[in-house]
Amino acid sequence: MPVPGPGYSITVRLEAPPSASAAGDLTSAVGRVGGVITAFDVVESHTDRIVVDITCNALSANHAKDITGALGALPGVRVRKVSDRTFLVHLGGKIEVTSKVALRNRDDLSRAYTPGVARICQAIAENPDDARRLTVKRNTVAVVTDGSAVLGLGNIGPAAALPVMEGKAALFKKFAGVDAWPVCLDTQDTEEIIRAVELIAPVYGGINLEDIAAPRCFEIEARLREKLDIPVFHDDQHGTAIVVIAALRNALRVVGKKMQDCRIVVCGTGAAGSAIIRLLLQKNPADVIAVDIDGVVHTGRDNLDDNLRWVAEHTNAEGRTGTLHEAMVGADVFIGVSAPNLIGAEQVASMAADPIVFALANPDPEIDPMEAQRHAAVVATGRSDFPNQINNVLAFPGVFRGLLDAHAHTITDAMLVAAANAIADVVDGERLNASFIVPSVFDAAVAPAVAEAVRRAAVGEG
Ligand SMILES: NC(=O)c1ccc[n+]([C@@H]2O[C@H](COP(=O)([O-])OP(=O)(O)OC[C@H]3O[C@@H](n4cnc5c(N)ncnc54)[C@H](O)[C@@H]3O)[C@@H](O)[C@H]2O)c1
Repeated sequence: MPVPGPGYSITVRLEAPPSASAAGDLTSAVGRVGGVITAFDVVESHTDRIVVDITCNALSANHAKDITGALGALPGVRVRKVSDRTFLVHLGGKIEVTSKVALRNRDDLSRAYTPGVARICQAIAENPDDARRLTVKRNTVAVVTDGSAVLGLGNIGPAAALPVMEGKAALFKKFAGVDAWPVCLDTQDTEEIIRAVELIAPVYGGINLEDIAAPRCFEIEARLREKLDIPVFHDDQHGTAIVVIAALRNALRVVGKKMQDCRIVVCGTGAAGSAIIRLLLQKNPADVIAVDIDGVVHTGRDNLDDNLRWVAEHTNAEGRTGTLHEAMVGADVFIGVSAPNLIGAEQVASMAADPIVFALANPDPEIDPMEAQRHAAVVATGRSDFPNQINNVLAFPGVFRGLLDAHAHTITDAMLVAAANAIADVVDGERLNASFIVPSVFDAAVAPAVAEAVRRAAVGEG
């Protein structure tokens, strides 16, 4: 059951009569239609009226309108203005460039810019590796999208994707001190995207691909990894996979099972599911059964594309066929990165003892987590209003911090596994339980631990 949250928070400025009951009438009106008041400020007071700012959380944009309507319908109340606080946060964008050097006088200018800067340019021309020492390349990542698979919104294009990419850049800075910049490309052509990223690569120490639809994202990442001498990481794939593997490692600790003994059903073989399967296989589970919209993936299925063929050839040791529900019977773990409401409590009940259910489809999971909890020993979702949120923020800032610190030229599965282990290990035995298998996204220990693990793995391979 969703609850009013800060994603739909409004401030209503209104005029009300100066009576003793005014405040009570206003707050009761909001409460009656289900709004949650977070602030009540009298901003002006006169003999005949008060002007009040009421800030409250709503469920949706329409619910916010209902709340405003309920206030405006009170006798003597006039709504002056409604501000959507989420829109206010976005006015003019969420990030900016600031100078690290003082530019106070001609001397400063001569060093930071011409003529002094010319010697730096010459040094880099003579030794291109110096770009990592003497320019922003050392600490800068491009957040590249074509706007084709943005959040749960689908193909909304590059301009509409920009607020998400800005948010990503802000998270990079906040959690790992990485300077990331949005690069929203006005093309959804695979060759053009690859060429565009290749052309901008000199500026960056890494490329974070974001919200690019499957299967295009697989080819774009693979080809860029071949062409570029900086790491290329598609967060929707590998960021998700890292956090899922970390969470699973801890969930297995909770139920006292070993990965090598587990049969794992992964529902969804798109961007997230394929990467999860690839990383899971690094951990040698007893078997992985992949399922997509056409049922269990097996080598005998028609029309397998390159991605599905790879999945079919590396999973499903017993050559199973059939439906998702059939695949779940006797399985130890269910990982859903697919679509809403695909399974019910009876499917969870059909799994092995102490089943683990990660229902990650967003915003509505494969199973209502409350339903899953009836039979599952551990439940995780992608949502912030339930325990055990699988959130990529646990991974990507630290991953890039480690890659940049190591001056890495590539990224490997060993580095992804190192990142997953580091996230899992932040939850020590004292805190680990069925409702706490991943650390909080605000746990300051996470990004440094991930960065150090990735840096070590990168230096070890360098
Ligand atoms: N941190 C997280 O919680 C997290 C991270 C990544 C993705 N997700 C969620 O996972 C879902 C998939 O993301 P994606 O980027 O991989 O999408 P995608 O479009 O690349 O892949 C979707 C996959 O789901 C399968 N699918 C769709 N309907 C199905 C059905 N009825 N039965 C079985 N399989 C079905 C498709 O065949 C496909 O393999 C989305 O809801 C996304 O929000 C959550």
